[in-house]
Amino acid sequence: MTDSLLRKLRRHRLLPLIAAALMLIVALAIGGAVLLPGVLAAPAQPLPFEHSKHVAAGVQCIFCHPGVQTSAVAGLPSLNKCMGCHASVTPKDPKDQADVNKLISQWESRQPIRWVRVFEQPDFVQFNHRPHVAAGVACESCHGDVAKMGYAQPYNLNMGFCLNCHRKQAPEKVTKLISCETCHY
Ligand code: HEC
Ligand code: HEC
Ligand code: HEC
Ligand code: HEC
Ligand code: HEC
Repeated sequence: MTDSLLRKLRRHRLLPLIAAALMLIVALAIGGAVLLPGVLAAPAQPLPFEHSKHVAAGVQCIFCHPGVQTSAVAGLPSLNKCMGCHASVTPKDPKDQADVNKLISQWESRQPIRWVRVFEQPDFVQFNHRPHVAAGVACESCHGDVAKMGYAQPYNLNMGFCLNCHRKQAPEKVTKLISCETCHY
């Protein structure tokens, strides 16, 4: 099957082209992986929003992501939560009000907001915010300095990253923290 496909491709002189295209894709993938996390752009989001201005104005992370203390899931704010402030709060810069107006018209249209997820683990990984927040692990250790970002940016959250920190915990806890069943069950 693959043999005859290869023969056909060779006859059509497509093989060199395909090989070149594959090499390009591999090179791009390696380049992307090496430059991580800097090179990964944040996904496009449905409304303008800047973390930096909100955190600078004194809004706490857990005000908008209250799940971190009690559950696995941090949660993303609803339009209602945004409007709890923006029904009356006006930004300092008039240019920013144009962005807030987009929020207001979305709210008036009664269309729920669907933020595009930035951090998402595959289904076979069990992650829970609660034990981390309870142990005093800062948001920045896993998400980068969100207080300086506009939209949240992708950050390196692979298995090695988890294990690296788990190995540094109190010796009596390490065995459990690095055993496969702790994160995969
Ligand atoms: C606790 C109050 C509060 C909540 C909740 C809040 N904001 Fe704001 N927002 C502010 C303040 C204060 C400013 C002005 C900051 C400044 O002028 O520097 C602001 C500014 C803005 C701006 C203009 C500057 C920027 O950050 O782009 C936009 C757009 C905005 N908010 C959207 C949102 C959205 C969308 C939500 C919900 C996800 C939200 N806000 C929730 C208080 C809030
Ligand atoms: C030990 C690492 C770690 C720490 C500390 C951490 N997070 Fe997370 N966070 C994650 C991982 C991993 C995910 C992806 C979870 C998934 O897909 O199941 C995530 C997801 C999120 C999400 C996406 C939405 C959701 O509902 O889960 C938000 C928002 C978030 N974190 C906010 C925070 C805030 C705020 C803090 C600090 C109070 C924090 N995180 C601390 C690792 C961490
Ligand atoms: C005023 C509300 C607000 C505050 C305060 C806020 N966030 Fe967010 N956060 C959002 C919104 C809206 C999104 C979705 C847009 C985006 O991805 O940036 C988000 C997304 C995130 C995500 C990406 C979630 C995912 O997987 O899609 C992380 C991580 C996060 N915030 C962490 C933080 C941390 C850490 C702080 C405090 C330094 C913080 N946030 C403060 C509203 C807020
Ligand atoms: C910066 C350090 C750090 C990083 C990164 C980190 N963790 Fe943790 N993790 C901890 C600490 C501290 C605890 C709590 C240990 C204790 O005191 O019980 C913990 C606990 C856990 C637990 C609960 C274990 C139990 O006792 O049941 C799970 C599950 C877990 N982490 C999964 C993850 C996953 C998945 C990742 C990567 C996405 C991750 N962690 C990344 C520090 C970290
Ligand atoms: C502290 C949490 C944690 C522990 C402990 C852990 N893993 Fe993982 N594992 C992860 C995360 C997070 C991913 C997802 C990585 C990604 O999305 O890139 C993952 C992914 C994987 C994958 C998918 C392939 C890959 O590399 O993406 C395999 C297979 C795997 N783990 C096996 C294991 C085995 C076997 C053990 C025990 C020796 C183990 N893991 C222990 C967190 C953990």
